[in-house]
Amino acid sequence: MSGVDDYKVEPGGRLSGTIRVPGDKSISHRSIMLGSLAQGTTQVTGFLEGEDALATMNIFRSLGVDIQGPDQGRVTIRGVGLHGLSAPERVLDCGNSGTSMRLLAGLLAGQTFDCELTGDDSLVQRPMSRVAIPLRLMGARVNTAAQGRPPLHIQGNPQLQGITYTLPMASAQVKSCLLLAGLYAQGETVVTEPEITRDHTERMLTAFGVTVLREGRSVRLNGGQSLRSTAIEVPADISSAAFFLVGATIAPASDLVLTHVGINPTRTGILDILRLMGADITVEREWQAGGEPLADLRVRSSSLKGIDIPQQYVPLAIDEFPALFVAAACAQGRTVLRGAAELRVKESDRIQVMADGLRALGVGVSVLTDGLIIEGQGGGFTGGEIDSHGDHRIAMSFAMAGLRASAPVRIRDCANVATSFPGFLEMARQAGLQIFGA
Ligand code: S3P
Repeated sequence: MSGVDDYKVEPGGRLSGTIRVPGDKSISHRSIMLGSLAQGTTQVTGFLEGEDALATMNIFRSLGVDIQGPDQGRVTIRGVGLHGLSAPERVLDCGNSGTSMRLLAGLLAGQTFDCELTGDDSLVQRPMSRVAIPLRLMGARVNTAAQGRPPLHIQGNPQLQGITYTLPMASAQVKSCLLLAGLYAQGETVVTEPEITRDHTERMLTAFGVTVLREGRSVRLNGGQSLRSTAIEVPADISSAAFFLVGATIAPASDLVLTHVGINPTRTGILDILRLMGADITVEREWQAGGEPLADLRVRSSSLKGIDIPQQYVPLAIDEFPALFVAAACAQGRTVLRGAAELRVKESDRIQVMADGLRALGVGVSVLTDGLIIEGQGGGFTGGEIDSHGDHRIAMSFAMAGLRASAPVRIRDCANVATSFPGFLEMARQAGLQIFGA
C-alpha cells in the first residue's frame, strides 16, 4: 500500500480552474482483461494508474500476458487469445479490488488450470457467494472460505455450460463475471438484472468484436467467440469527478471544469441526483470514444435542497453516495436514501461509516438498514476527526466537507485513496482545497 495515511483539511476555500481526473477504474480493469484475451495487440490510453487496476494488470502478467506500461496512461497488451492464458505460479493478489476478484472468478473458471484469488483485509471480508453460486450452476468448481468469503479456490473446468440466470442483486460485477465465464461456456449465457447496472463489459466486448445482445434488463452472449484487439481510450472516471462535482457545488464562488468525463448513462446517477437537489452542472462538450460517451462538465456553486432519492438512480450512482451524503448535509431540508443495502458491502460499510463521520462533523443522521436519512440545515460542518476505515471514497468525500467546515477536518486511514485516485491530494490542492498529508 502507498500514499499518505491521514489528511488534514483547513476550512473554507473554493474550487476553480480546469482539471482532468484519472481514468475510469471499471473501464481500466476491463481493458486489461479483454485486451489479454484478444488476438493481437491492444493499445490503451488514459489507463488508471491506481492500485486496483494495477493489481489486475499484475495478475494478467502472472497468467503469462506481455503487458507494457503503464506510461502516462499508455498500456500495450499483447493478447494471447481466449485459450492462451497459462497457469500462475503463485496466489493471485487482488489487493483492495472487488472488481478484480469477481470478474476474474468468471474468467478463470473455464480455464484448463487451477488458481487461488485473495486480497487485502477489506476484500477478504466481502461476499463472494454472489459469484460462486451462479458459477457453480455453470459447472465451475469454485470454493470460498467460511461465509462465502475470499480466498477463492478455482479448479479450472473447460466444459462450462451457459446458463440463464436472474441476479438477486443489482451488481455489474456479478453480471460481468457471468458474461466472462459465458465466453468459455457451451451455448448461450443469459443474465437478467433486477435494475440496470453499468454496462462497460457489454460495450467493451462489442468493441472487441463479440456479439452481445441486450433486451430490456437481459444480456446474452454465445460462448466460444474470439476477441479481436482494438484501441481503448479510457475516459476520466465520473466516480472520481464526483468529489469535485460535490465540492464545487457546496463551496461558495466555485466554478470548475472537469474534462473528458465518462458520461455513460449507466453511471450518471450522480448528475441526475445533484441536479434534482438544485446543482448547476452543464455539459460543455460531448463526444464518443470506443463506444463510451464523454463530456467536459462545468460546475458552479449553488444552494441545494434535500430530496427523496429516486430508486431508479441508486444503481446508477452506487459508488457516489459517500460524496452525495456530503452534499445532502449542506442542503436545506431532509434527504432520504433507501434501497441501497449494497452500500453495506463495499470497501467499507458505507452507510454506517458515513453516518459516523457525518455525526462527528455535527450533522444529524438516522441510519436505515438499506439507506440513510440526512437532516440538511443549509449550513456546513463543524471541524472534527473522521475514520475512513481504509475506504478511498469515504476519505475523498470528507475531504470535500472541509470546504464548508468551520474548523479543520482530519481524516484517518487514507492510504487507499491510491487504489482509485493517484495524485488526489495534488489535484485537490490545484483546484483550491486546502488539504495536506498529516
Ligand atoms: C463495479 C461495479 C460496482 C461498483 C464497483 C465497480 C464494476 O460494484 O461498486 O466500484 O466495475 O463492475 P457492484 O457490482 O458490487 O455493484
